[in-house]
Amino acid sequence: MCGIFAYLNFLTPKTRKEILDYLLNGLQRLEYRGYDSAGLSIDRHLNNGVMLFKKQGKVAALKAALIDYLEDGCEGSYEDILNCHVGIAHTRWATHGPPNEINSHPQRSDPENNFLVVHNGIITNYQDIKKYLEIHGHRFESETDTEVVAKLAAHIYSQNKELTFRQVVELTCQQLEGAFALVFKSRYFPGECVASRRGSPLLVGIKTKLRLAVNHVPVFYSKDTKSRRGMEQNTLRRETSTEFTPLGEDHSTEYFFSSDASAVVEHTNRVIYLEDDDVAAIHNGNLSIHRISRSMDIESPDWREISTTKLEIQQIMKGEYSSFMLKEIFEQPESVVNTMRGRVNFKNETVVLGGIKDFIPDIRRCRRMLLIGCGTSYHTALATRQLLEELTELPVMVDLASDFLDRKTPIFRDDVCFFISQSGETADTLAALRYCKSKGSLNLGITNTVGSSISRETDCGVHINAGPEIGVASTKGYTSQVVSLVMFALIMSEDRLSLQPRRSEIISGLENLSEHIKQVLQQDTIISKLAEELFQKRSLLVMGRGYGYATCLEGALKIKELTYMHSEGILAGELKHGPLALVDEMLPIISIITRSPVYDKCMNAILQVTARGGKPILICEEGDTSTEELVPGSTYIHVPHTVDCLQGILTIIPMQMLAYHMALLKGCNVDCPRNLAKSVTVE
Ligand code: G6P
Repeated sequence: MCGIFAYLNFLTPKTRKEILDYLLNGLQRLEYRGYDSAGLSIDRHLNNGVMLFKKQGKVAALKAALIDYLEDGCEGSYEDILNCHVGIAHTRWATHGPPNEINSHPQRSDPENNFLVVHNGIITNYQDIKKYLEIHGHRFESETDTEVVAKLAAHIYSQNKELTFRQVVELTCQQLEGAFALVFKSRYFPGECVASRRGSPLLVGIKTKLRLAVNHVPVFYSKDTKSRRGMEQNTLRRETSTEFTPLGEDHSTEYFFSSDASAVVEHTNRVIYLEDDDVAAIHNGNLSIHRISRSMDIESPDWREISTTKLEIQQIMKGEYSSFMLKEIFEQPESVVNTMRGRVNFKNETVVLGGIKDFIPDIRRCRRMLLIGCGTSYHTALATRQLLEELTELPVMVDLASDFLDRKTPIFRDDVCFFISQSGETADTLAALRYCKSKGSLNLGITNTVGSSISRETDCGVHINAGPEIGVASTKGYTSQVVSLVMFALIMSEDRLSLQPRRSEIISGLENLSEHIKQVLQQDTIISKLAEELFQKRSLLVMGRGYGYATCLEGALKIKELTYMHSEGILAGELKHGPLALVDEMLPIISIITRSPVYDKCMNAILQVTARGGKPILICEEGDTSTEELVPGSTYIHVPHTVDCLQGILTIIPMQMLAYHMALLKGCNVDCPRNLAKSVTVE
């Protein structure tokens, strides 16, 4: 989905080339989110306005076009040194209007580029604003919702030239409805940058030569009636008193705005995550954060912490792998261990999840649990529901966030809702969380992204600690989410005597999980051969039941996402209610069959397939000779045996690898499948 990167160097001389490299590199770091066009804006030479450059397609295409354009020197030399400069850049994933240069960002107020803006999210009332602006003589060039933002800023400024840049943006954002992260640049305010967010993530990175003198930035309120300390504060504070000077004497500072920490970490690890409706402004090299007024319903502190992000640049680099997805598949032996690190004590058979431990008594008293997510995260809910039902003896509902919202599902104060989201930013999941908050349930986040909206807006939660997942198709995120919910189920059953043998079995399964995953990964050659047989087929079914069912849906999703081939996960119990009609000698069917109480039922379904000439491919357990005897001559992919509730982690990995190899053979981009985005921040 869209990505924002902006860079401001204050008293930190940089050549125009360096600035462009920063911006293009920032965009490249955001590529994994999925996008279809890119653009940026920098100053022309000799204070001669602002230049806008946009291109449909990849960042590499933008870079090539920029080099061609700038090399003739008409916009100032590459080597011009700029002491204080603002550059804004964006990768766009088309929502309003097709991907083309005009619709790409930055969007502008007018041909002079007086106000420029980059935007993530959707402005829902843009039609109304557009009508208003058209009546006032503004002519629109793009089909985007974003263009109204740039034009509205220009319109507001044209009415009162006394306004500061920050005030223009504040007044503009007050008129906007929907979700947004916005970064503005203006020809009228050289060297200044203003940003705001509501519902879409945005952070500010700060880089200084010396150590920062403070670890927080105060928040200032334009209109406020009462401060928390009970002091009357009706006056608009003086501009000078509201600014944050990062260092005493040395004012040279570099600032980065981004929708994603992974674009900033190579420059600085000091970041501020902006809250909804914060307006962050940089003026004279100083950062200030403003809000119109205090929110009445949320306890928001009067400062924003400058946190130290632990994301390491190596963690987001591909290393020895040809793609992020391959790297992430092969990282799973470590990522599952990272998820359990410091949480599972294998010797004492205890589990502690620090982020939720104070809430466990409340959770134990709840009426039911709801697991809500989208895409792969929804499959995590399916993969763990049975264990949660077994170990908590509570009713467990699983829901796709969009459908949950459409149904206006009744939620009660004694419900516990889990919001599962790798990114922590998925719009539907976030909207479902906000809906549940309004109903008073206890809300838990299961996310991989520290500082994400879901991790901040839930009452408590579990960070899955899988490390950054860059490939659009989730792999290690899924397995770590499953491990997190298994750990949660173990906590819920810790004082149930009758469940102790079951808990021991699961904890021992967790202890061996990493080794078992390594063994599955050794099947790579067999799987790549299978991919050669399958990649030209038109369709592929994945069949199973019990704990295998989530693998079917998730496996089929991987095939679909990466290879663009039709693929469907089917519950073996439903075979004769429809899918059997598809079966013939041509249709490939992958069956998940592992030793479990549903083994015989799975085998029945497989035999129904073979009876109709179908040749199933079997994902089964090592040492399982009976399956090979009953279904001779098939292709078998063996995974080690583990406890039933973890078996799905071992059976999904061959499906991830198969999807990867098939995509390679088909020439598809495995990290960024067409039309898809890593983080879907629009409903
Ligand atoms: C997008 C991604 C999927 C992901 C889903 C939910 O559709 O392409 O891979 O499963 O969003 O994302 P989340 O970040 O909420 O887990």
